[in-house]
Amino acid sequence: MKIIHITDFHLVAPSELLWGLDPRERVDHCLTDIARWHGDADFCVISGDLTNEGDNKAYAWLKQRLEDFPLNTFLMVGNHDERKSFSVTFPDTGRDENGFVQYAHKNDQGVFLFLDTLKGPVSEGEYCKMRRGWLAEQLKAAANDPVWIFMHHPPFDIGVPYMDRIKLEEPEAFAKILSGHGDIRHIFFGHVHRAAFVHWHGIPCTCLPGTNHQVPLKRESVGTPYSVEPPMYGVVLIEEDQTIVHFEACLDRAPADMG
Ligand SMILES: [Fe+2]
Repeated sequence: MKIIHITDFHLVAPSELLWGLDPRERVDHCLTDIARWHGDADFCVISGDLTNEGDNKAYAWLKQRLEDFPLNTFLMVGNHDERKSFSVTFPDTGRDENGFVQYAHKNDQGVFLFLDTLKGPVSEGEYCKMRRGWLAEQLKAAANDPVWIFMHHPPFDIGVPYMDRIKLEEPEAFAKILSGHGDIRHIFFGHVHRAAFVHWHGIPCTCLPGTNHQVPLKRESVGTPYSVEPPMYGVVLIEEDQTIVHFEACLDRAPADMG
């Protein structure tokens, strides 16, 4: 099966720019590219920071844009989102019994879990006891089926000091819950605005650049907290015995000069 991972749109109100870039234009380009080349994917996941400040008009723009998008799309919240505003615009997105925006999707391949790690405005992530309880139940219900997890905040340092300060709190408690299941195939996360691979507690993990601005690996290399580097979306190919992640830099893709 094929799924699409895309993250950190940071949408702002229509007509506004963010860090000199137009988030809507870039999201529109990426979604158009996904629809054109990967319309056969089983589903798409947008792993949080849908908006930059939880703006209602930004959520409304996204809702309207997704009406034309052919893939079944699972939405998640990140630290730049606002759970209430999100819920007003997307009342049908899954919630757990405590109102957190987290839910499961099951198919022939296994179980896909979409977690809510939102703590508060523009901050580190939180996965509290209530949310951990939900996750433990989902993993128990998954039994021997393989599980793929999507979450906004990484539960580990990634070697970028600016982001490591705002990773998921209490990563040990989170790891303990996961240790109760023997077949976690992959963790997909956002938040760090970079393409990276991490092997954590035996679990392969990948993240992606956002569609708007990025976070430089070395701040001194650009002199600003954010940078302009190629956006990418992930094309994830899942087979019985392997998970493949391609990083597609669609805004920077062009024919080579073949002379
Ligand atoms: Fe972000």
